[in-house]
Amino acid sequence: MTQITQLSLQYFRNCQQIQCELSRGLNLIIGDNASGKTSIIEAIWVLATGRSFRTAKSHLLIQHQQTALTVFAEVTSSHKRTNINSHRLGVQKTAQQSQLRMDGETIQSQSTIAQHLPVQLLTPESHKLLEDGPKARRQFMDWGCFHQSPDFMPLWRNYQRGLKQRNQALKKKLPKKQVQLWDQTLVENALKIDQIRQAYLKNLTPYLVTFCQALMPEITENVICQYRAGWPKNTEDLMALYSHNFQKESTLGHTQYGAHRADIRFKFSGQEAINTLSRGQQKLFVCALLLAQASLHEKTLQEPVIMLIDDLPAELDETHRLKLLELLQVLKIQHIITSTSQTLISILNPETTHIWQLNEGELTQIPPP
Ligand SMILES: Nc1ncnc2c1ncn2[C@@H]1O[C@H](COP(=O)(O)OP(=O)(O)OP(=O)(O)O)[C@@H](O)[C@H]1O
Ligand SMILES: [Mg+2]
Repeated sequence: MTQITQLSLQYFRNCQQIQCELSRGLNLIIGDNASGKTSIIEAIWVLATGRSFRTAKSHLLIQHQQTALTVFAEVTSSHKRTNINSHRLGVQKTAQQSQLRMDGETIQSQSTIAQHLPVQLLTPESHKLLEDGPKARRQFMDWGCFHQSPDFMPLWRNYQRGLKQRNQALKKKLPKKQVQLWDQTLVENALKIDQIRQAYLKNLTPYLVTFCQALMPEITENVICQYRAGWPKNTEDLMALYSHNFQKESTLGHTQYGAHRADIRFKFSGQEAINTLSRGQQKLFVCALLLAQASLHEKTLQEPVIMLIDDLPAELDETHRLKLLELLQVLKIQHIITSTSQTLISILNPETTHIWQLNEGELTQIPPP
């Protein structure tokens, strides 16, 4: 099981100094509006991914009047029949820069931390995964590809490097021959990324179907995941497509087709999920997506993810809240949930639950039921 055993925050938004030991099961943080609940979830997300889900400006995360924030977590994973592995992961951020630490050493790569701290996030904004443009769905898919396939990250980095150069050449209206210098890099990496993404979605779909059935038994049709590569469906030769499309791309000033334009469409009975599901069902569908991803992750890497859920009651009604908690318990996933209300407490399993009251950035542990 992968779990955060200890968490500490310093000068993160309104949390001046927080230090706590977390349970391997449910960790419930209860607090009024503006007590700092989202900030704690955000801090874990910042450590795991290097960025906030609320702002791109890291100075906003640092407590007013302070110059740096730190987030630190001790993460323990115990694989079946193998040893227990423990790592101390940390990030310190000033307005200008970030410093990452692992086991007392400074490290350069965020992906090293991401590998040791696989977290998933559900917030009241999560239904935007369906509503917004393809970027969020690509990020969802690529999270899985990154954890499942060690080749994915280098391919993606090479692709991005090529894309940046190619876009610069297009923007400067350089001649075709100079733009084409980057086509080979783009095509080679895009095709490999495409293979990994397709394989990932194929593996994910049966899990998604199962969790949709568990959370939304009223929907009798199974969900269909339609993958879109980022270029027209019947393209046989991506190089030829670039060559053919040069004039248009030169006018646009950027690369129109490629792995950076991939998307997934989710359909029920031939209709886009966004057009056919109720708002509540859309939220449940996003839960099913995350649970499917978590299950596949566990199945292939024998390592559960950690689920962060901000503001659970705002997400779901009571029946579905209970159903979700039940599924998380069955999956044996460490989950960190925030809520403004105490209503969840009475139904919790005291053996695997820690509960805190959060008040103006200060955490006080309260005994389980
Ligand atoms: N950089 C900062 N320094 C100090 N305080 C901050 C900073 N950024 C935000 N805050 C404050 O931190 C408090 C906690 O915000 P947060 O969004 O975490 O609360 P919350 O408990 O999730 O509230 P809600 O229930 O309304 O979602 C707010 O009062 C906010 O104004
Ligand atoms: Mg909040």
